[in-house]
Amino acid sequence: MKGTTLAELLHLARRRLSDAGIEGAAFDARLLVEDITGTTRSEAITDPDRLIDADMLTAVDAALSRRISGEPVHRILGYREFHGLRFSLSAETLEPRPDTETLVDAMVPLLAEIGERKGTCSILDLGTGTGAIALALLAAVPRASALGVDISEDALDTAARNARGLGLSERFKALRSNWFEGISGQFDAIVSNPPYIRSAEIETLQKEVRNFDPLRALDGGADGLDAYRTIARESARHLETGGFVAVEIGSSQKAEVTDIFLGAGFLMKTALRDLTGNDRVLMFTGGGKA
Ligand SMILES: C[S@@+](CC[C@H](N)C(=O)[O-])C[C@H]1O[C@@H](n2cnc3c(N)ncnc32)[C@H](O)[C@@H]1O
Repeated sequence: MKGTTLAELLHLARRRLSDAGIEGAAFDARLLVEDITGTTRSEAITDPDRLIDADMLTAVDAALSRRISGEPVHRILGYREFHGLRFSLSAETLEPRPDTETLVDAMVPLLAEIGERKGTCSILDLGTGTGAIALALLAAVPRASALGVDISEDALDTAARNARGLGLSERFKALRSNWFEGISGQFDAIVSNPPYIRSAEIETLQKEVRNFDPLRALDGGADGLDAYRTIARESARHLETGGFVAVEIGSSQKAEVTDIFLGAGFLMKTALRDLTGNDRVLMFTGGGKA
């Protein structure tokens, strides 16, 4: 009996997801098939008649069922690319998003300059999750070291594993802390993508986000700004003179978060939009130790 070829499997997977109304069906089908069969996009073109093992067909079938039931494709894969690096995910980590690359891109030249000038550059990443921001910065700035803080042990285990996988563990430490509670010392940069969704809004999020990203990574309190207040209040004590605080924000929060930081004595350095044109990153200076 003739088996199923790679081309047929890709076609069937795509059709099954699009028939189920999955947005981005072709992309998700390709990611799942490639991951499970260990094939590449170019092999789909150069070797379309390759026969696929029965156990791989079963695995693709199960993955498609999970996708159709609402699980995001990267949760099924167990990893997601961020800033060109692969990050493992776990139950209590947010999937790193492309929007957050805006913060990394903005920080790299500033941190590289500090690293050149001082020979080292220390980074505090508050709410590190998978370690995405801290580890992407370490990969781009060889003289930097980072402390990744999270309230979730599961996230810290995942961040430490990602650091090992990326060969960055010598320059990365993971610490359990409620924001600054367990932190001592000063840093050249404090970065954070904190939870910033208003509590009442969580129910209205897409089910892929609401059901699969951890609540602690999303819920920013009644007005979504709880974490910014803490970061603005506490950062000055932990920032080296001439250092930077950079935070990701929700697209409607620029004015409110700016007010919080200016009210805490910081100066605005820059405000950046993400690739889709939404306000996404605010960077502040000042407030450092005398
Ligand atoms: C929006 S996620 C960001 C994750 C990662 N930095 C990224 O950009 O993909 C926010 C993170 O803050 C952590 N968090 C929430 N409350 C916290 C707290 N009180 N202290 C430290 N971390 C906290 C969550 O566990 C989560 O990992």
